[in-house]
Amino acid sequence: MTSKAVATSPKTPKKLNNSDIQPRKMDFSFDPAMPRYWFDDDQFKTILLTALSCTFPEGERFFVRSVRHYQKQIQDPLLREQVKGFIGQEAHHGNEHDAFNHFMESKGVPTGKVDEFVNRGMRFMAKHLSPQRQLAKTCALEHFTAMLAELMLEHPDFFKGMDERMLPLWLWHAVEESEHKAVAFDVYQDQVDSYWVRTSEMAFTTVEFISFTIFHYYQLRKGMDDATVYIGDIWKFGDVELQVSAPRAPCSKISQRFNIPNLDRFVGERGITGWYYRVIKTGAIHVGDEVTLLHREDDTVNIHTLMQCAHTKADKALAGKLAQLTVLDDEWREKCAKIVLKAR
Ligand SMILES: [Fe+2]
Ligand SMILES: [Fe+2]
Repeated sequence: MTSKAVATSPKTPKKLNNSDIQPRKMDFSFDPAMPRYWFDDDQFKTILLTALSCTFPEGERFFVRSVRHYQKQIQDPLLREQVKGFIGQEAHHGNEHDAFNHFMESKGVPTGKVDEFVNRGMRFMAKHLSPQRQLAKTCALEHFTAMLAELMLEHPDFFKGMDERMLPLWLWHAVEESEHKAVAFDVYQDQVDSYWVRTSEMAFTTVEFISFTIFHYYQLRKGMDDATVYIGDIWKFGDVELQVSAPRAPCSKISQRFNIPNLDRFVGERGITGWYYRVIKTGAIHVGDEVTLLHREDDTVNIHTLMQCAHTKADKALAGKLAQLTVLDDEWREKCAKIVLKAR
């Protein structure tokens, strides 16, 4: 076979740079029928990997920015090509983990609030750390991701029990992390080369990485609150199936009971009211039964958003949408319809 035939073969992916680090563009979709705890039916393993995934999209965009800052100054032709590969791979990882995180949100795991937390943290670091420290932090975090990736790849038992529909995402990411593990470090040595900055940042980052992974794990475990429960959600508790129908509107009795003026208004405005269910299927609930999200009707209106809409009366478009939302309790639909009418 001639070299030309190889180059034009549809089986040979086009090289995107002149190095061994080639981004593989994936387009994962996640089967909605997959169980919430897709890793060995185990909450700990599933939520721990989900906690890591929540840090990937914004974290990897931070890595890309920190390397890109020095990209034009790099003289070594091979390193310049490797940087292109690194940026391509990390950009795809961020996109695919966004899709995964969205899938977990649809399963009732509140990844959105962790994404937002990580986003704020990354913006803070981009504003307050020097470019040298940002690149040193990337080196430290790339060290951890490469270590985890190689641990997974060298010990295939790690994946035992993982739903096979979820395997490709984690294998693909692990392979590419291992491939580009040295790039940020090589750029650092080439452009910064400060032992003190690198080692001190490694020390800070080690503490941050461990603490925030544990923190995000517990953020995700907390699960159901006013910001993560949506109108129309159907949740399974043991044999029972319940659908979220409306927020609990706090009444003035709580202000009287605790002798705090406007306590009911305070609770309502902050969206910490709790919610009501309608019964879809009766049955028994036992202590320790798993609570699972079976169906999400709409992922735009959670309890908190609805309470904000009702109190501020500012978002007429949302009030109009809520007035038409058939899974919302009739009394609340009428309240929302009145907000729209008054605006005319
Ligand atoms: Fe990555
Ligand atoms: Fe990476």
